[in-house]
Amino acid sequence: MRRIALGGAALLAAACSAQAEVGVPAPAAATPVSYQADIVPLIESQCATCHLTGEEAGGISLVGDVARDFLVGKPSQEAPAIMRVVAGNPDASYLVMKLEGTHLANGGSGGQMPFGAPPLPPEQIAKVRQWIAEGAKP
Ligand code: HEC
Repeated sequence: MRRIALGGAALLAAACSAQAEVGVPAPAAATPVSYQADIVPLIESQCATCHLTGEEAGGISLVGDVARDFLVGKPSQEAPAIMRVVAGNPDASYLVMKLEGTHLANGGSGGQMPFGAPPLPPEQIAKVRQWIAEGAKP
């Protein structure tokens, strides 16, 4: 008798938790990515040491105030047919290819970024992708 009662309680608990999961909103994507709050701190901490003025290898400054001007709608040096950032289209953006290591397969050259270091964590690359998908806005 006791065992049956416990089983019933467990079933009830399972039913309740299943119920609770319904209506929980899907994570992420709801919050838009902010260039100033999300992207600038990322590129200034991970990239700007080597991409400071735009005169260094790669020809790109990744310092917050000017990085968008070097990225959005600008042809890459390594594969000039591919723009560094195509606003609205992360898959077509050389920046994303260099972060994900797909640049060679797309006709680019050189290493995956950040150069000589482990790739960025997937959630950081996802932020860059989302920023571009949302229009690469300032
Ligand atoms: C240790 C130095 C170093 C760091 C850190 C670094 N890069 Fe680079 N980057 C380079 C060098 C050198 C090149 C040119 C050779 C190559 O592509 O491997 C380059 C090339 C590039 C290019 C190609 C530019 C073009 O127009 O063809 C992009 C895009 C780029 N880097 C983005 C980044 C991003 C984004 C980060 C940060 C996540 C980053 N880099 C971090 C050294 C670095």
